[in-house]
Amino acid sequence: MTTEDPDALLAEAYALDGPASNRSLYARWAATYESGFVAGRGYVYPERVVAVFVEHALAGADVGADDVVVDVGCGTGLAGVALRRRSPVAIDGIDLSPEMLQQASTKQHDGVGVYRRLLEVDLTTTLPIETGAYAGAVSVGTFTHGHVGPASLAEVIRIVRPGGRLAIGINAAHFAVAGFGPAFDELMASGRITGLRSVDVPIYDGADTIDRSDPDRYAHVAVFEVC
Ligand SMILES: C[S@@+](CC[C@H](N)C(=O)[O-])C[C@H]1O[C@@H](n2cnc3c(N)ncnc32)[C@H](O)[C@@H]1O
Repeated sequence: MTTEDPDALLAEAYALDGPASNRSLYARWAATYESGFVAGRGYVYPERVVAVFVEHALAGADVGADDVVVDVGCGTGLAGVALRRRSPVAIDGIDLSPEMLQQASTKQHDGVGVYRRLLEVDLTTTLPIETGAYAGAVSVGTFTHGHVGPASLAEVIRIVRPGGRLAIGINAAHFAVAGFGPAFDELMASGRITGLRSVDVPIYDGADTIDRSDPDRYAHVAVFEVC
């Protein structure tokens, strides 16, 4: 366990350079991630992306309790908890860090584990998951500086079935510098995805108005459907 300052840990997270350094940081951070960073900074991002996923992606889709969606980079499970409160859909979580997954495994709703299954994966590689396995996908805080970039979108899309809907939160500063715009243009042009739109959400504080003067304080949630 670490007692390090959450701001210092976030700065370190943004400066990571690949899966090995991510694994090592989150091994140190997992036990205090929620009590330190989430509580201290007023991290509302999971709630806000899940709201977009439910209202803009799952609404009108043929998805129910017999379907499974995947929480991509689930961490300690905050998006899973938020989704379980809003939808009966089954949820799997995938993440690089065994320590973060261990935290996610403790999350319960009405005495039942929030996640059906938790799987250790590296989003920068081919995922050990069948093509079209999921009815949809949601992701929070994983498409950000020092974590994963647009190259990981293709695998996430591959594991969602045709007609499945995704809501992928992408840090707005990372979106601008890492080439997400061209990557989404290419995915649309090649017919892999359709119906792309973007909804902005705050990452901290629950403010209803988004302060666009600091692109590290808000995110673009890319909502789209797999073809
Ligand atoms: C800032 S945390 C976000 C966790 C959670 N979704 C949330 O919003 O609280 C980022 C997560 O991305 C995971 N991650 C980083 N690189 C990854 C990779 N290459 N493959 C899978 N997960 C990765 C980390 O282990 C960590 O749990």
